[in-house]
Amino acid sequence: MHLQLAWFLLFDIIIGLLAFGDLSEAARAFFVFGDSLVDNGNNNYLVTSARADAPPYGVDYPTHRPTGRFSNGLNIPDIISEHLGAESTLPYLSPELRGDKLLVGANFASAGIGILNDTGIQFINIIRISEQLEYFQQYQQRLSSLIGPDQATRLVNDALVLITLGGNDFVNNYYLLPFSARSREFSLPDYVRYLTSEYKKILATLYNMGARRTLVTGTGPLGCVPAELALRSRTGDCDPELMRAAELFNPQLVQIIQELNAEAGSDVFIAANAFSSHMDFVTNPQAYGFVTSKIACCGQGPYNGLGLCTIASNLCPNRDLYAFWDAFHPSEKANRIIVSRLMSGSVEYMNPMNLSTILAMDART
Ligand SMILES: *[C@@H]1O[C@H](CO)[C@@H](O)[C@H](O)[C@H]1NC(C)=O
Ligand SMILES: *[C@@H]1O[C@H](CO)[C@@H](O)[C@H](O)[C@H]1NC(C)=O
Repeated sequence: MHLQLAWFLLFDIIIGLLAFGDLSEAARAFFVFGDSLVDNGNNNYLVTSARADAPPYGVDYPTHRPTGRFSNGLNIPDIISEHLGAESTLPYLSPELRGDKLLVGANFASAGIGILNDTGIQFINIIRISEQLEYFQQYQQRLSSLIGPDQATRLVNDALVLITLGGNDFVNNYYLLPFSARSREFSLPDYVRYLTSEYKKILATLYNMGARRTLVTGTGPLGCVPAELALRSRTGDCDPELMRAAELFNPQLVQIIQELNAEAGSDVFIAANAFSSHMDFVTNPQAYGFVTSKIACCGQGPYNGLGLCTIASNLCPNRDLYAFWDAFHPSEKANRIIVSRLMSGSVEYMNPMNLSTILAMDART
């Protein structure tokens, strides 16, 4: 580990000496933390069952090959990068992430993780959030050796940050099995309070590490994803228990964000309401050009919601007509709708302000 870091640092210094880009002309850097909704391929480098590196994942990606993104094509961070006028961030574990590529930012996300360390243990080897933050520290050392400590601090302070956590703490922990350890330990309201208090510590750490513009997404309507319809719904209606979980979690997340912003004395954290932006196309799929928001494009069983999306699964011919790509994850088309809410949504979607406001504001300072 330390030898590897030393080697990276040496490499970065050499690249830095050879090709010193002008930082002021580069697009704003972007850092991504969280779970499979935002993982760009870190899990490809790990021994884990939480992976998306086989067809038909990536069928609509520019290369038409799987990349580790849990989508038919681009995912939410990719589409945010488009709006920043930047190339997509590389997964932190990618060997291509070195030299000038470090200036673009990095994606530390890992499918299967949650706020809690015991979330996703069934996936074996995943990068838990505390390790993602350690990698961010290591990244900053490498960046500093490339462009110097002052420029490195500036790049991180000026960067946009996205963090997406929480869904797995419900579906891959509390509700994974009947009588799960956490559900025996906590009532749902107490569990949500515990989750948000832990999330607050994580966000405070990000702030202490230099993040100054951080989008924090709440959870989507967990009870409406094809996997939960297949497992828990006889009628095709969203599962009320998982909906209750999301409805308890999201407002408390907004509250800890407001507390953190008050402590920082500025709008460092922005609450992105994933629940409302998903709910729009879940309740009225046709209005968004989808034929269904219940059936996954790729999968098997009721709603194509059981098991994994593999080469043996049912696969819909036109992915743009489906809100869900697989049993849990939105299609690229749905991701574009979600990002358009991040960009220009009202305060119901983006609190206290949307991303186009942020980009316009920060361009002036
Ligand atoms: C999770 O694990 C990390 C690293 O071992 C530790 O620092 C952290 O406190 C743990 N979090 C919780 C909620 O136990
Ligand atoms: C969000 O962004 C749009 C610009 O795309 C702007 O017109 C609108 O007022 C913003 N909404 C809020 C609530 O900030």
